[in-house]
Amino acid sequence: MSLQGQVAIITGASKGIGKAIALSFAKEKMKVALAARTKSDLDKVAEEVNKLGSEALIVPADVSRGQAVDHLISQTLENFGKIDVLINNAGMGVFAPVDELSTQDFDRMFAINMRSVFLCTRAVLPHMKNQKSGAIINISSLAGKNFFKGGSGYAATKWALNGFTKCLMLEAREYDIRVSVVCPGSVVTDFSPHSGKDPSKILQPQDVADSVLAILRLPPNALMSEIDLRPTNPK
Ligand SMILES: NC(=O)c1ccc[n+]([C@@H]2O[C@H](COP(=O)([O-])OP(=O)(O)OC[C@H]3O[C@@H](n4cnc5c(N)ncnc54)[C@H](OP(=O)(O)O)[C@@H]3O)[C@@H](O)[C@H]2O)c1
Repeated sequence: MSLQGQVAIITGASKGIGKAIALSFAKEKMKVALAARTKSDLDKVAEEVNKLGSEALIVPADVSRGQAVDHLISQTLENFGKIDVLINNAGMGVFAPVDELSTQDFDRMFAINMRSVFLCTRAVLPHMKNQKSGAIINISSLAGKNFFKGGSGYAATKWALNGFTKCLMLEAREYDIRVSVVCPGSVVTDFSPHSGKDPSKILQPQDVADSVLAILRLPPNALMSEIDLRPTNPK
């Protein structure tokens, strides 16, 4: 399936996994709307997208805020005319035992990892329903399926995200909209740097981007609703 000419919104596109997805889409000649809070980081990604011969729109935005999301959607439609793909990727994690986790960090994780997904998804659905096509891919985590000490807040957001995604998938496919979730293990980014470790033993942002492309490359009648992504041999 050629993805050329498709329009994608990517949240958290300035770094790490979101940046890898943005550049992979640019190589496919997709047009990308890039959202994150830090404009200077988005500018650098947009420059790389342009060098790959594709178009980037940067929209500095805190995607946990409704007005910012509405602006992101309207800017994308104004500049590119449609939305084919939404990648809900923006996320953050604070890892601490429950009695050491602040209310502020707990609320921030839910705002960015879950509320933003709800807001962005709700805003793009009318357009995708009208065009009777679209793909929404949520970047979750294996933390959304497993248990580990210090992960209560973060894992809860990703367990919530997985539940949200599966319910949405059943609703949206009736309109030929494909909804998927990618659940990676640890990936080398600022979120989780793994400095000094053998890179072949750890997932790279490009591995997640390749999973996203695999989902999108399926013919429109086929829906890969979930990918668990692990390093082949972590030892
Ligand atoms: N790295 C891992 O080990 C790993 C494993 C599994 C799943 N994941 C998931 O993968 C996703 C991306 O993680 P990453 O490792 O690429 O993290 P990262 O390198 O820290 O990048 C996070 C991105 O999200 C943006 N962001 C954060 N808060 C935002 C907000 N309120 N509004 C808009 N953008 C916001 C950041 O830019 P600004 O700060 O400028 O806004 C940045 O572009 C997350 O959902 C994470 O939970 C990561």
